Amino acid sequence: MENKNNLEKGKLVEPANDAATNLRLLFVDALKDIYWAENALVKALPKMRDNATSPALVSAIDDHLAVTVNQVERLEDIFDIIGEEAEGKKCEAMAGLIKEGENILEETVPGPVRDAGIIAAAQKVEHYEIATYGTLVSFARTLGENDAAEILAQTLSEEKEADTLLSDVANGSVNADASSEDE
Ligand SMILES: [Fe+2]
Repeated sequence: MENKNNLEKGKLVEPANDAATNLRLLFVDALKDIYWAENALVKALPKMRDNATSPALVSAIDDHLAVTVNQVERLEDIFDIIGEEAEGKKCEAMAGLIKEGENILEETVPGPVRDAGIIAAAQKVEHYEIATYGTLVSFARTLGENDAAEILAQTLSEEKEADTLLSDVANGSVNADASSEDE
């Protein structure tokens, strides 16, 4: 009743023709979103690595690139398991986070300051992915897609590991080195 009144008052957003009508459709939609996002990251990470100076950061990004390629394959397995076609749908959030990472390169000189900026951008990406995979694990469990949930939980823990590693690199030396650079 409340909703009907809001629709009449024009407060409710009119759903698109292909809008999700149940949790399963919302789940599939979210999978397409993160599938696009992970593929976009595979393309974006080499530029971040090539602009990093700290060997610890270069190796963290390289490792995560390999992990991300594997995560793309895992998502393809999940589409297979749930009987859906693997297709991406542009993730505006990831597109924005990648753009922000590219802007940081322009806004910093190479060395520890740029490294600190790359870590900041990469951790925003990781936190977005942690939020996304946390939701996906929960959706999959609720839907009884336990095999998919298990695979998604593996990826979730990899994203958390990557985030911790980036914090270690920042706190290990990069941030301190960046703070002692010339003003
Ligand atoms: Fe990922």
